[in-house]
Amino acid sequence: MSAPVVPILPETVALAVEILSGGGLVAMPTETVYGLAADAANPDAVVRLYQAKGRPRFNPLIAHVSGTEMASREAVFSPLAERLAEKFWPGPLTLVLPVNPNGTVCDLARSGLQTVGLRCPSHPAANALITEFGRPVVAPSANRSGHVSPTRAEHVAADLSDRIDLILDGGPCDVGIESTILAVEGETATLLRSGAIPSDVLETFIGKSLERASGLAISAPGMLKSHYAPNAQLRLDAAAPEAGEGYLGFGPGVREGLNLSPEGDLAEAATKLFAMLRALDARFDRIAIAPIPWEGLGEAINDRLARAAYRDN
Ligand code: TXA
Ligand code: MG
Repeated sequence: MSAPVVPILPETVALAVEILSGGGLVAMPTETVYGLAADAANPDAVVRLYQAKGRPRFNPLIAHVSGTEMASREAVFSPLAERLAEKFWPGPLTLVLPVNPNGTVCDLARSGLQTVGLRCPSHPAANALITEFGRPVVAPSANRSGHVSPTRAEHVAADLSDRIDLILDGGPCDVGIESTILAVEGETATLLRSGAIPSDVLETFIGKSLERASGLAISAPGMLKSHYAPNAQLRLDAAAPEAGEGYLGFGPGVREGLNLSPEGDLAEAATKLFAMLRALDARFDRIAIAPIPWEGLGEAINDRLARAAYRDN
């Protein structure tokens, strides 16, 4: 049975709420990538979700909330955490905070950690779904574990159709790259995953540098070196393709393959990254990728590309 793909309407959101209440799995659009939602308080639903994605259970899930009121029931907010939520929510910032002992997010969803990842998505469909459900939903990216993240409903269907109950189709995601993850302990913020909000924007707001784990180190448990992996082999920092390679270009003057942004705009490149990787992956065994500047969103794009290119063997 493949999951129905339905437009966002009051009645399809109501159906999604009913499915979540029954322990089912619903793919929903967010401003970053599509998420696979399940009732965060229901361990059976969370087990199903881990199984559907083929995700190792040591990798905790982000609980998605409708606002700061719901969030404050789940975690203990330091003054810095409060300031960050006030400034960047709703939006693509995930805060990893000490769990509130009275919280509803089940142990399994947190992989038994004493912290919980919280995010308040700005996408109206995601927000409506969580608001009507009335409590947090966990929502990892709606792809098979280790695969490229989905930015369109058809990407979700290609990866998970026979394993989930419903796909809410909100069209292509605006941002196209996952949320930035910060662990906040007291007044210290550590970057666990670069993402949709560039780290320099956060540093300017906080007024000091973020703590960070270097390069490909596993900082969030789920930040495995090999991730976002297409089947094709990737060659990074390639000025031009070699014979037999598909090409993912960036900036003006690229005449072959696909171009993340002919104008050299990093926001446009982030939006198109995963869809273009999937498109090239369907046609080539090897993909060469142009150098991407490291400023702004370039940090998150380069992070995803490094993980997509990494092979254990
Ligand atoms: O933009 C996003 O964040 C998307 C959309 C759907 O909201 N979600 C997403 O979820 O990217 P996922 O499961 O693909 O990635 C969540 C990351 C994992 O690397 C996980 O290890 C980390 O968040 N994480 C979650 N809870 C954590 C915790 N308590 N401590 C450390 N890392 C945590
Ligand atoms: Mg993911």
